[in-house]
Amino acid sequence: SARRPVVGGNFKCNGDFAFIKTHTEVLKTIPKNNVEVYVAPSAIHLKTLADNLKGTHIEVAAQNVYYEKPGAWTGELNVEMLLDCGLKTVIIGHSERRRIMGETNEQSAKKAARAISLGMTVAFCIGETLEERNAGKVDEVNFAQLEALRAVLKEADWKNVIIAYEPVWSIGTGVVASPEQAQEVHASIRKWLGEKVSKAVADATRIQYGGSVNAANCAALGKCPDIDGFLVGGASLKPEFVQIVTTLG
Ligand code: G3H
Repeated sequence: SARRPVVGGNFKCNGDFAFIKTHTEVLKTIPKNNVEVYVAPSAIHLKTLADNLKGTHIEVAAQNVYYEKPGAWTGELNVEMLLDCGLKTVIIGHSERRRIMGETNEQSAKKAARAISLGMTVAFCIGETLEERNAGKVDEVNFAQLEALRAVLKEADWKNVIIAYEPVWSIGTGVVASPEQAQEVHASIRKWLGEKVSKAVADATRIQYGGSVNAANCAALGKCPDIDGFLVGGASLKPEFVQIVTTLG
C-alpha cells in the first residue's frame, strides 16, 4: 500500500540505565529502510535514550502522558515535558493502562487529543480481551475505543494518529493472532474509519498489529494488506527487534 510501514518498540516497565546504554548500540544498527521506527522506554529513561539516538532515524516515544496542562498532578507527565525532551510520539491507551490502571476510553481519548493539539503523533492502542472475543464482541469493543477518540478529534487531526490493534489475549502470551485473524480486524477498523471519519483517513491511517510479534512470525503478518507495521513488546528488548524492522522493510 502507499502507507509507510511503522514499527514501534514498547519496553514497558523494563530496563535500567545500563540496558539503555547497551540497547542504544543495538538500535543504531537498524537499517534505514522504508520503515518508520519508534522506541518507547520507561519515562525515566526517555531523555537519555532520546539524547543517545539524536541524529539517527529512530524516534523515541513515551508510553503514556497526562491530559491536563502543567499543574498539580502528582506523579504525572504532561505533553510539554515530552516535547521538551525532543519527543514527537506518544503511545496512548495501551491495554495495560486500560485494564490494569483502569484508564477509560474517554481518558485515553483526552490524552490523545491533548498530545495531538500540541503537535505530537499518537499511537492509539485498542483491542479486545479473550472473553470479549469469545462473546463475539471484537468489533463492538474496538469501535467503542475508537469512537471515544473520534469524538474528540477533527478530521485533520487523524494525520497524527497511528492505530495499534493489540488483542489483549495475545499480549505477552506467545499466542500471536494468525495473519487471517489480524487482517480481519484491521480491515474492519479501516472500514469503520471510512464510514465514521472519511475515505481519505481510512486510506492513509497506519494500523499496527501488536501481540507476541517476533522475528519468526512478522513476515506473514506483514504481508496482510491492512497491517501497516507492528507494536512490539518483549522482542523490542532484544536484538531481534532489528530483524523485525529489516523483515518489514
Ligand atoms: O505494546 C506492545 C504489546 O503489548 C505487545 O507486547 O510483544 O510482549 O506481546 P508483546
